[in-house]
Amino acid sequence: MTTVNLHDRIPNNVNLSNDRTLQRALEHWQPGFANWWATMGPSEFSQREVYLRTAVGVDAEGWASYGYVKMPDYRWGIFLADAIPDRRIGFGDGYGQPVWQQVPGEFRAQFRRLIVTQGDTEPASVEQQRALGQTCPSLYDLRNLFQVNVEEGRHLWAMVYLLHAYFGRDGREEAEELLTRHSGDVDKPRILGTFNEPIDDWLSFFCFTYFTDRDGKYQLKSLAESAFDPLARTCRFMLTEEAHHMFVGETGLGRVIRRTLEVMQATGSEDPAVLRTAGVVDLPLLQRYLNFWFTSSLDLFGAEVSSNAATSFANGIKGRPDETQYADHLAIDLPYTLDVPLGAGVGHEDVPLRKAMNEVARVAYVQDCGMGLKRWNMTIQRAGYTQALTLPSTRFRRSIGAWANVPTNPAGERISQEAYRRQMDDWIPTAADRAHVKSLMQRVVEPGRMAGWIAPPDRGINNQPAVCEYVRR
Ligand SMILES: [Fe+2]
Ligand SMILES: [Fe+2]
Repeated sequence: MTTVNLHDRIPNNVNLSNDRTLQRALEHWQPGFANWWATMGPSEFSQREVYLRTAVGVDAEGWASYGYVKMPDYRWGIFLADAIPDRRIGFGDGYGQPVWQQVPGEFRAQFRRLIVTQGDTEPASVEQQRALGQTCPSLYDLRNLFQVNVEEGRHLWAMVYLLHAYFGRDGREEAEELLTRHSGDVDKPRILGTFNEPIDDWLSFFCFTYFTDRDGKYQLKSLAESAFDPLARTCRFMLTEEAHHMFVGETGLGRVIRRTLEVMQATGSEDPAVLRTAGVVDLPLLQRYLNFWFTSSLDLFGAEVSSNAATSFANGIKGRPDETQYADHLAIDLPYTLDVPLGAGVGHEDVPLRKAMNEVARVAYVQDCGMGLKRWNMTIQRAGYTQALTLPSTRFRRSIGAWANVPTNPAGERISQEAYRRQMDDWIPTAADRAHVKSLMQRVVEPGRMAGWIAPPDRGINNQPAVCEYVRR
């Protein structure tokens, strides 16, 4: 067990006080973080007490301690999951050798880039979501938004710790840069495209936490396999927090659907126009939002064929999500069959498995995304309707990889560029869709009240009632 220092200026379980230089460097970074939070974090409610979970340790009791806290006073800490004694490299050319406690010089650049890219997404999402408090559907949802935000802030700390502790001067410079790039900034945007899209309505927020945080889950799962043990341990602990973010997405979208079904039954109509007048989100509109967020999250996994991914795997830098599920951890000489564009149709191509590691992770991700849809479709069916929500094909609307800019319909069938352009309004949110969603976004902050477009949650947070003053006046 690692010891937890909660009374240090930076709470941690990495014995920060034993390394004065590192501690001072991080304490030097801390005011910049606080300033970033104040200027780029949630735009309101900074003086309100919010019912939040704070990590004070990594064991079952410690990692989720709940209480009321003002967000600027939140105790962002550095926590690594406990070390696994005698942990060995689980994949690639170094399979079976002891894991590394330091970054090997020859892989330094790759690790730095991976950690910076992961680190960049964490504050980016806080920036994307900063105005959502203005239109929250309830105090329960407002609290969940803030929970996600403070934990993304902690994930930034997690990556900054690695940069400071293992990458010397370059690491410190990268840590500074993480506070100077901003989501959507014309001159200094965030690194990945999806993290520069504004999230200015709650339907997008739920889609983001369902699809994009889940991409994060799969990136973290791959990094949790890494031979660089401090990175693996950091990511393992981040995954426990990440689960709540996806819960917010899945239950959020589930509640939107439940409310829509209630209104469909009450009005006896499935007509989007009728449902919009009644103030809810019609299912075809929701489908277009799912299409949009799912496809843009797919690109985050990178190209189907990637020599970079092959090198990362060979060198023990980044594994497959849940590497232990496989019998063979070397993945040499095995073919992996990909769908590729061929003539006007779809062909197949065998590539070496190591080069297809991005695709292996993407396939696992797509399967995971499907679980929520199954549950939502059951809810729809039980209410007596035949409509079903679907995930589009991974070939649809891609900007990266073999299918980049190849026009297909959501089923993944090749179509002409002209047909693609003409039908896009059926497939991703239209200006009218966005305007309707925007019109629903009215702030509800009275305890116990819920906006009309979303059903109340089944239960509250941490055994609290669903109706509770989660954000105090
Ligand atoms: Fe995160
Ligand atoms: Fe997250």
